[in-house]
Amino acid sequence: MNIRLRSAVQTLLLTSLAFARGLQAQTLQTPVLHPSGNMFRPLATPARLVSDLSELTVVICLSVFVIVSGLLAFTIIRFGWREGDSRSEPPQVYGSNQVEIAWTVIPILIVFVLSMSTARVTAAVQNHTIPKDALYVTVIGHQWWWEFQYPDYKITTANELHVPLSTMAQPKLTSLTLKSADVSHGFWVPQLAGKTDVIPNRTNTMWMDPEETGIYLGNCSEYCGTQHAKMEVRVIVDTPEDFDKWVKQQQALAAGSDTTQPDANRDAFLASPCIVCHAVNGTSAMGAIGPDLTHLMSRQTLLAAETPNNAANLRDWIKDPQRLKPGNKMPTAQLTDTQLDQIVTYLTTLK
Ligand code: CUA
Repeated sequence: MNIRLRSAVQTLLLTSLAFARGLQAQTLQTPVLHPSGNMFRPLATPARLVSDLSELTVVICLSVFVIVSGLLAFTIIRFGWREGDSRSEPPQVYGSNQVEIAWTVIPILIVFVLSMSTARVTAAVQNHTIPKDALYVTVIGHQWWWEFQYPDYKITTANELHVPLSTMAQPKLTSLTLKSADVSHGFWVPQLAGKTDVIPNRTNTMWMDPEETGIYLGNCSEYCGTQHAKMEVRVIVDTPEDFDKWVKQQQALAAGSDTTQPDANRDAFLASPCIVCHAVNGTSAMGAIGPDLTHLMSRQTLLAAETPNNAANLRDWIKDPQRLKPGNKMPTAQLTDTQLDQIVTYLTTLK
């Protein structure tokens, strides 16, 4: 392929990938380092193993295609019937040991190479020893959002998974335990690891060792109902120092949760039906059905990364949850405008 054609094809591919990620992702205010979720640019060991295997498979299959279709085209052109040829049937050839052996042995070799390479990659990903100092996170798929629990740090958050960077000098592996609260989901962040199913009444595991800091986009990869397509996940890879800071910040209570200080907005929130499903550490809100709101404003997005997290979007969302994400499980609370304003004002203090 000449260089111009190749760059045109690359641009087209990247543009369609970016487009497929949704335009909303492009309008977020925070810098996004890995905006396309480009699976052709793996940035962690499991993703690289899968990507290398796919490349090998594609190269082998393409070679078979080119050789077979090339031979076919050559035969048609070179030996096809021409004006002046006899109309009688050509001599029929049957049985050539060399040809029979060649087209039996070569496919067997190809199947052998592909199955062995697949088995090797599967084993390398599945049997990888998880070091003792790994970060453990429990991922729970919900219709239609992700819950992340950090049992060692007693942190619960949603939709934005913070993990530390892993370098040669300072390797740090993240081990994920995947569970579902309802139906089957699929956890897939293409640049970090292959897809893993998230299945009710079953625990799956996966791991990742991200090599670059930044935000990685992923999505639920198993149809799970109306808003399956809007079940995005963002993995935020922090430097070890930033990750420690994030942990400390998440463990602390939010300023607005200091119940020794009077706060009419907080009272409005605690008197609302919101607390049946949502929790804010330090307060009487202890619902465990919806996302934990303890540090809601530390997240950049709302509704599983569908819309930027700000007061206006929060208000829209609470006022009519079915407008932004039809079919979702959040009920519409009967709130007056004053109550709505108070609740939104309170939520924005949860930094
Ligand atoms: Cu969750 Cu699709």
